[in-house]
Amino acid sequence: MPRSTSYHQTGRLFRSPSGQDHLFEKSYEEELEARRGHRVECLGLKFENDDARRAYFLRKLKAGLDELHAKLGGVSYTSVYDTIARMTAIEHWPIGGERELKNLAERMRHAESSKDLLQRWKDEVGFPQGEISDILNLSDPPYYTACPNPFLLEFAKQYARPYDPSEPYHRKPFASDVTEGKGGKIYKAHTYHTKVPHEAIARYILNYTNPGDLVLDPFAGCGMTGVAAAFCGAPDEAFKSTIDKSGKDVAFGARRAILADLSPFATFLAHNMTNPRNADEFVDAPHALIDDVKNEVPSDVYGCPLASYVLWSQVFLCPEYTTELTFGEVAITEDGAISSKFSCPTCGSSITKSKCQNKHVTYFDDLLGSLVT
Ligand SMILES: C[S@@+](CC[C@H](N)C(=O)[O-])C[C@H]1O[C@@H](n2cnc3c(N)ncnc32)[C@H](O)[C@@H]1O
Repeated sequence: MPRSTSYHQTGRLFRSPSGQDHLFEKSYEEELEARRGHRVECLGLKFENDDARRAYFLRKLKAGLDELHAKLGGVSYTSVYDTIARMTAIEHWPIGGERELKNLAERMRHAESSKDLLQRWKDEVGFPQGEISDILNLSDPPYYTACPNPFLLEFAKQYARPYDPSEPYHRKPFASDVTEGKGGKIYKAHTYHTKVPHEAIARYILNYTNPGDLVLDPFAGCGMTGVAAAFCGAPDEAFKSTIDKSGKDVAFGARRAILADLSPFATFLAHNMTNPRNADEFVDAPHALIDDVKNEVPSDVYGCPLASYVLWSQVFLCPEYTTELTFGEVAITEDGAISSKFSCPTCGSSITKSKCQNKHVTYFDDLLGSLVT
């Protein structure tokens, strides 16, 4: 497949993660160059450029992770009170309020006895299975950390506004049907279960929030709420026309988003979807992976040089003569439809699926050490 040569495809979609008030209209390289050359402000601190910002927060993240390992690693669980005392003594990592800490310590009591305090905690709150160096290499703090984000509170303090009952807030409930396709470039960049097209989420965000507001998605999956929050500031013409036709009075303008997920893989995807990426590298990486797999997997594993899809099919017994028939071979027509009636290839009788019995095979499973059917 030819390599993509365009760096500009995703250019206008995303807001700078450094919080600068512009959208990317440059190539990835130009964007990096611009970030290197400009002073940036982040969580109230000023930096010479974006690299300096990243280096500063990586040092803070490392200090926090080192402290967790030093104070909790290799320490056995003895009691709730000991756990609370040890976790409260941690200086560089926010632990949560008194009640959360007590609940956490009580839950940690039930973990396997071989696990130390650190592992019990890591199992609870979504740390990846990895070394400190892996976490640091993946992270771009304070915006993204490949572990629970210790800068979250500071970020919320910086960008959230406390609830003010005297501030008028009236919104009609969003009660329209929303239909969005799943064929866009952002949607197809990778798969994720229950992934929602960002245009659909943007309609809710526009209805309920104002530009600059902070949106929280604690079950963010691959981050489409974050994409939608940025998209509200750079909607395309087709989307604007959908909004116009809906007759809703909305204020376009980017919103900020806090995205969280239990899965470190999901937050990794979310980070990548909400930041500019090098389009060539993005296209090349899966091709390199496919080449590696081709080298490792024997070419005739499914009887063909490279399988794109493998269809697993149920095997039935013909009700007339109990001969075997593979459903995928007898019931799927040339145009891909499944027929309710089909013929047995051995006896020729016309049959339906409900009349067939399942074919069962019994064998000894080495791992289970027993017969399975
Ligand atoms: C329905 S999916 C969200 C998909 C998302 N709308 C998207 O577009 O990618 C729900 C997500 O919740 C996450 N999840 C489940 N239990 C969680 C928990 N206790 N805390 C945080 N995330 C959780 C799952 O890992 C999953 O990614």
